[in-house]
Amino acid sequence: MRKIAAGNWKMNGTSSNLSEITLLADRHPKSDVEILICPPATLLGNASRLPGSITIGAQNCHTSQSGAHTGEISAQMIAELGAKYVIIGHSERRANNGETDNIVKKKAMVVQKEGLTPIVCIGESLKQRENGQTIAIIKEQLNGSLSSDAAKSPIVIAYEPVWAIGTGHIPSMSEISKVHEFCRKQLQKRFGDIAVRIPLLYGGSVKGSNAAEIFALKNVNGALVGGASLKADDFSQIVKALEDA
Ligand code: PGA
Repeated sequence: MRKIAAGNWKMNGTSSNLSEITLLADRHPKSDVEILICPPATLLGNASRLPGSITIGAQNCHTSQSGAHTGEISAQMIAELGAKYVIIGHSERRANNGETDNIVKKKAMVVQKEGLTPIVCIGESLKQRENGQTIAIIKEQLNGSLSSDAAKSPIVIAYEPVWAIGTGHIPSMSEISKVHEFCRKQLQKRFGDIAVRIPLLYGGSVKGSNAAEIFALKNVNGALVGGASLKADDFSQIVKALEDA
């Protein structure tokens, strides 16, 4: 199974921060982990041209390839800049930009059509968790966000409990395990054996100090990391934990 350490810089970083990517590449010259940094769209071109083994991805794209959509960026444009992945349906976009499962599904399809890999994010809110709805919400989001052809091209799923993002709180290891096992079974039920190859990432307050125990869990194939991906020193600890897992 492919192991992926993905960093989501969100709306952080200007050209002076590109040196963090170079530093990260220097720390992990020959890694068996796919090390991915998703900087803001403004840095995609320059980040992709940096020497070293770090893969570059985007944080969002439009559902269309072109057209009258002022301020938007298409998967085709992202591909031209040299990026290989696109994060789709991050909970911040679901909450702040009205992205429904159906929109997420359309975006994932357009990303795959361009030969890029979507990282489709799913996750329950604190209220949903407290109401015991976690598995039901995960099932609904997984089914609604993936097309019937989703597993025919590379795709990655990231389980990110909304309440764990940027808060320092994470679910217990058995809770993470339970959701990841459910995701694997659900994907196999829908797509068959091919689904065993879909990497499942955990996201939400992953740090150097908790990465090893998270990566030891079955069906956790890597992480999607926000805050701790901004500095090469911090992210490198997480990459190292995944290399050792
Ligand atoms: P965090 O963010 O690592 O800062 O909690 C994770 C994410 O939003 O993907």
